[in-house]
Amino acid sequence: MILLVGGEKGGTGKSTAATNLAVWCALEGMNVILLDADSQGTSRNWNDRRQQAGLPNIPCQAGTGNIFNHVQDLAKLYEHVIIDAGGRDSKELRSAAVVADIWYTPVQASQPDLETLAKVRELAQQAQAMNQALSIHAFVTRAPTHPNIDELAEAKNLIADFPDFPELQLADSVIFERKVYRDAMIEGRGVIETGNSKAKAEIQLLAQEIFQ
Ligand SMILES: Nc1ncnc2c1ncn2[C@@H]1O[C@H](COP(=O)(O)OP(=O)(O)OP(=O)(O)O)[C@@H](O)[C@H]1O
Ligand SMILES: [Mg+2]
Repeated sequence: MILLVGGEKGGTGKSTAATNLAVWCALEGMNVILLDADSQGTSRNWNDRRQQAGLPNIPCQAGTGNIFNHVQDLAKLYEHVIIDAGGRDSKELRSAAVVADIWYTPVQASQPDLETLAKVRELAQQAQAMNQALSIHAFVTRAPTHPNIDELAEAKNLIADFPDFPELQLADSVIFERKVYRDAMIEGRGVIETGNSKAKAEIQLLAQEIFQ
């Protein structure tokens, strides 16, 4: 499966999701590769720290420009290709959307973040003209841990009913704002490899929704 983790908003947790999902796949014994398609190199830097820490290896490559052929080649070698695309409209994001099976976009539960879904809609609908099988999903990320439950429910309703975007499916899973995600990123780990059972459960649920 080719999974694109992308969106037009910066800092929503795309690299966090991509790296954590890659760790989940690897620990499940799946043959996975992480493709860092963002020149910022967040996922590659995470992987470098992972190697330095002597943690189990996860294949990771950089992809630049039009990555369509690169991804197709990787998909012949790996069961799952997870693409971390940067937080802006780019050749990488557009070409990834044309080659991906599934696109997951993280969305924070705030009005300005929800509004950035309009750009995802534009790019996704353009990609679907060439890639009809592309399925498009959003998940709420960085949700406050002491949530006003109505606020989370309201954000979920707004995503589920986002105008003129019937293709968009809202994931059940929610990723909460937890320091362990930042710590794990710095240590080259997935939260599954930490002792934080809440974060671990969140990633497991998200991964199961995506890969099972
Ligand atoms: N659920 C979370 N809880 C706490 N911190 C988080 C969470 N998700 C992401 N972060 C932190 O927020 C920052 C941005 O996250 P990340 O790099 O994953 O975002 P991104 O969407 O990939 O950003 P960019 O658009 O720049 O590529 C990082 O410091 C990361 O550790
Ligand atoms: Mg990133």
